[in-house]
Amino acid sequence: MTAYLITSVSVVGAAPTDLLIRDGVIAEVGPGLTAPDATVVDGTGLVALPGLVDLHTHLREPGREDAETVESGSRAAALGGYTAVCAMANTSPVADTAGVVEQVWRLGREASLVDVQPIGAVTVGLAGERLAELGAMADSAARVRIFSDDGHCVADPKLMRRALEYVKAFDGIIAQHAEEPRLTEGAQMHEGEVSTRLGLIGWPAVAEEAIIARDVLLAEHVGSRLHVCHVSTAGSVEVLRQAKARGVRVTAEVTPHHLLLTDERAETYDPVFKVNPPLRTASDVTALRAALADGVIDVIATDHAPHAVEDKECEWAYARPGMLGLETALSIALDVLGPEWDLIAERMSRTPARIAGLTGHGVDPAPGVPANLTLIDPAARRTIEPAELASRSRNTPYARMTLPGRIVATFLRGEPTVLDGKAVK
Ligand code: DOR
Repeated sequence: MTAYLITSVSVVGAAPTDLLIRDGVIAEVGPGLTAPDATVVDGTGLVALPGLVDLHTHLREPGREDAETVESGSRAAALGGYTAVCAMANTSPVADTAGVVEQVWRLGREASLVDVQPIGAVTVGLAGERLAELGAMADSAARVRIFSDDGHCVADPKLMRRALEYVKAFDGIIAQHAEEPRLTEGAQMHEGEVSTRLGLIGWPAVAEEAIIARDVLLAEHVGSRLHVCHVSTAGSVEVLRQAKARGVRVTAEVTPHHLLLTDERAETYDPVFKVNPPLRTASDVTALRAALADGVIDVIATDHAPHAVEDKECEWAYARPGMLGLETALSIALDVLGPEWDLIAERMSRTPARIAGLTGHGVDPAPGVPANLTLIDPAARRTIEPAELASRSRNTPYARMTLPGRIVATFLRGEPTVLDGKAVK
């Protein structure tokens, strides 16, 4: 194993120091380190964060390898500064058995660019009718602890209750895609002034808020852990704030796009801006940013949703919802939050690692800690060119936008997956 000496780097925004990585762990931290056998990485002007952890990634394998594979998505993740991602279950076949989650987990190990932690489906085939084999997935080699029908809501309250009860035995989590389906039939975008003007069927905020309100009550009743995926409205924030104040075991995520973009983007009719839940209003964005700062929202999760060209470059109504996120998330966070490194580390690494139970991730660089970290150049600015992304898909909403920050290097257990801003393999 090669040793690496990172010189003059700011660890989570602190005064510059040196980091020595040896045998997969941080061996030493301090100024003026020497190690003749180590490869030197000049960290001047760079910030080291614990490797980012994404609670919400769509890797599309098995089934839609034309849009993404475990390997291509892992490479995109590493280039985005991630060392671990949780892979959503809406693959084809659905990850609703021990066999499929083990397949995804094994593909992640083979790619070995990030740790890929599969999420299992809550219901068979995401159909919302019967509970999937939650116990078998938990006991499998993939050791699944988070279950989600993401893309679909577990709409049946009885099934949701049973799922929460089932996972309580092993302290598992149900991650809900909060969307009351009867309220969003035919919806194309956020229901509001813009949808009225464009004549598109709206997805009302209350469809999200009603499910979150129901589910925090169910989680409270059962005493189980609930995680709310991609929170998008100011009203949802208030429901979560009240639930947390009562001590409900609920955590929540927000996506980079819901922190930056609004429903006015739909005026372009460019389906790259079609996403579920939809982009909301400027006042929702303001509320989400405030909730992220004060902790009502626990984490930034990408909802990286690659789609093939034919599923995106078509009429708005026929386009699939979803946006790429892994390779731009840190830049959006920097843009939205500014150089608040401790907050960024908390929301993008430490807390998601803790929620997912990913030991060895989300820990600040310190002697003896596994060397899972990323180095960021905060002064760099880059213009996003879709063709240059590592993802197999091109559906980034940030095409040709100039964003702050660049990932210079990422290390997974002491081995670089990214160096000089480029994937190592
Ligand atoms: O926009 C979305 N795309 N939202 C989801 O919940 C699912 C995702 C996908 O799988 O494409």
